[in-house]
Amino acid sequence: MAVVERRGGDPVAIGEALTGFAREAVAGTPDWLEAYIRRDRLDERGLGDALRAMWAAHEAARQKRIRESGCGSEDELDWREREAESQFRVERMGAPARLWEAHYLARKLHAPAEAALAWAQAEVVERDGVRSLRGTCLVLSGPPGVGKSWAAVAAARYLADETGIQPLWAYAADALAGVELRDVRGSALATTPVLVVDDLGTDDARDRAKWDALFYRRHGNRRTTVVTTNLSPEAVRDRFGARVMDRLAEWATWRSFGGPSRRGEGEQSP
Ligand SMILES: Nc1ncnc2c1ncn2[C@@H]1O[C@H](COP(=O)(O)OP(=O)(O)OP(=O)(O)O)[C@@H](O)[C@H]1O
Ligand SMILES: [Mg+2]
Repeated sequence: MAVVERRGGDPVAIGEALTGFAREAVAGTPDWLEAYIRRDRLDERGLGDALRAMWAAHEAARQKRIRESGCGSEDELDWREREAESQFRVERMGAPARLWEAHYLARKLHAPAEAALAWAQAEVVERDGVRSLRGTCLVLSGPPGVGKSWAAVAAARYLADETGIQPLWAYAADALAGVELRDVRGSALATTPVLVVDDLGTDDARDRAKWDALFYRRHGNRRTTVVTTNLSPEAVRDRFGARVMDRLAEWATWRSFGGPSRRGEGEQSP
């Protein structure tokens, strides 16, 4: 891609650059490339021609897609394709369908979504051009309907858009029901890079040790986690014990919200 960008998308220049690249690479040519060159009897010129033809076909297909999509420009098509990918990841995450529209680019974000976006932005770090996650936790707490779950989806969408990582959604009431304590450690809930736990506190009291094990793993391995809950910090301590609470105190950004329920209000789309 670097070659393509440097040459400004000109197919002839790209063909030449790639031919040069192939020539330089020949000393340590991988077997598959050598086999390919021999099979098609490609010398440098032939390889350049093949690459130019490939590029021209790619461009023609792209122009056709722009025309057929009704997009006015390449930028608009790019944007649409990125949004489609974003939507696909959000729907695959497993959140309830009513929250699929949640987006950090919505015209108006409510307080929980604003807080969640600020956390998500700080959660993404870039080192040597590679984006990764810091692996912290966000707890959104407050009464029903203030927009915690909506905010959690918007934050997960942001993280997914920025890093390409597929998040996972877990409804606390049934997330650990079918999992044995000894299996928590290797479960997707423990190992997935981005987890949303929705409605912590609706879980079965018999699953308490499993939640302890799950937070132990995610906190210990610095795995990005978003929690929504109706419980106050004191209620979380009462329910899950001091061990879970201590971990959250060290690892999590805790944000509490009050105010009226937003249920039934008009939806805001990006
Ligand atoms: N930023 C927002 N923009 C538009 N609508 C929102 C926003 N935040 C919340 N809503 C609306 O408010 C409704 C309730 O929000 P949400 O389900 O996130 O509440 P909650 O705090 O998770 O409640 P509960 O504690 O009952 O799970 C959503 O269905 C959504 O329509
Ligand atoms: Mg909710």
